[in-house]
Amino acid sequence: MDRIRIVGGNRLNGTIPISGAKNAALPLMIASLLTSDTLTLENVPHLADVEQLMRILGNHGVDISVNGRRERQSEVYSRTIHFTCRTIVDTTAPYDLVSKMRASFWVIGPLLAREGKARVSLPGGCAIGTRPVDLFIESLQALGADMEIDGGYINATAPKGGLVGASYTFPKVSVGATHVLMMAATLARGTTVIGNAAREPEVVDLATCLNSMGARITGAGTSTITIEGVSSLSGARHRVLPDRIETGTYAMAVAMTGGDVILEDTDIHLLDNAVEALRRAGATIEPVERGFRVARNGNGIKPVDVVTEPYPGFPTDLQAQFMGLMTRAEGVSHVTETIFENRFMHVQELARLGAKISLSGQTARIEGVEQLRGAPVMATDLRASVSLVIAGLAAEGETMVSRVYHLDRGFERLEEKLTRCGAIVERIRD
Ligand code: EPZ
Repeated sequence: MDRIRIVGGNRLNGTIPISGAKNAALPLMIASLLTSDTLTLENVPHLADVEQLMRILGNHGVDISVNGRRERQSEVYSRTIHFTCRTIVDTTAPYDLVSKMRASFWVIGPLLAREGKARVSLPGGCAIGTRPVDLFIESLQALGADMEIDGGYINATAPKGGLVGASYTFPKVSVGATHVLMMAATLARGTTVIGNAAREPEVVDLATCLNSMGARITGAGTSTITIEGVSSLSGARHRVLPDRIETGTYAMAVAMTGGDVILEDTDIHLLDNAVEALRRAGATIEPVERGFRVARNGNGIKPVDVVTEPYPGFPTDLQAQFMGLMTRAEGVSHVTETIFENRFMHVQELARLGAKISLSGQTARIEGVEQLRGAPVMATDLRASVSLVIAGLAAEGETMVSRVYHLDRGFERLEEKLTRCGAIVERIRD
């Protein structure tokens, strides 16, 4: 298994190009199941999760062709991928494929809408909480589907004549369940109104793409989304929006090490809340053409409290990274996690680097220390792993991060992007 070796202490200076968003690319790829025409996605990141979803879609009958296109002078590739699902050849998503990635469960929406049935294994994914699927079941039942759990699978069946539009209000905000209900409703008869919908930019990106495919969706980005069902969808061409979590992660890395970096091909407004927290922590952040500049020179890191919340609140996917930053703040800060009940696995690993963190329920109390020291650490989920990289960049000496496959699920060319800015980061292939 690969490891990442980091020698800390260097400031970051230069430009980091931001990739397309993993969490937008995945539902967009799944949307290709809704049409027999070709859906072309540009700016698709090269990540393990994307490759895994391609295998799953292939199993359902999606024909996939990839154009790797070298963009800019850099080594960074942005890929354009064509997805064509002339016919759905299999409505079953088996355990061995779905258990590796939770988002693959989302095929249930398009399969049900287009074929009237789906048999999908209950999901796996990062071990960050129990992550039930009750909201998917309830919301698809609202469109008339029969949902039965049998032997670790959900058997979903649409009524004769297909799904029927309805009003459904989520009791809790869920990104995935909003994606799925929105996709299913595009082909339902009549109008669907989703209340308490997730407002994440990735939901808006999916709605924009579905509308280019002929769907009639309004209100994405607000908590009420209205979908007027249509009889079929066509192909489209769509560019995946920039990855706000990758953007925020590198912004936190710069705030941690000090230095001056342009984050390119991204949009500061995708992460207003995190930018605000970084400014309060002492980083200078200002928009530039095609992105923004983040710098911290001279001044120390100030302690800042954050609470994770659904968008537009502080993202849970940046919680671990922000905690990494706070380990070196000049004082005590608190990080409260409200989305997932078990998303603090990075705490004990950060402690191995010398961080002082205590947990009380869903809140971590972080007492900033003057210096972290390198150590061997183990990544336990995607965002936890990258928080260890951030801490390692500022630690004295060598940090070795093992189980790097977690990082490969969500960060495209991480070592290269950091090395170009002066960090000492290398992958050791075992
Ligand atoms: C998406 O996961 C993201 N994944 C996650 O990113 C992200 O952390 C999460 O949204 C929250 O922002 C992708 O987009 C692929 P949820 P999702 O349904 O959709 C509970 C990363 O690191 N819930 O919004 O699975 C659930 O347990 C990943 O890139 C139910 O109770 O998250 C959680 O507490 C990790 N019942 C809360 O809702 C359900 O049926 C929010 O989860 C569904 C969810």
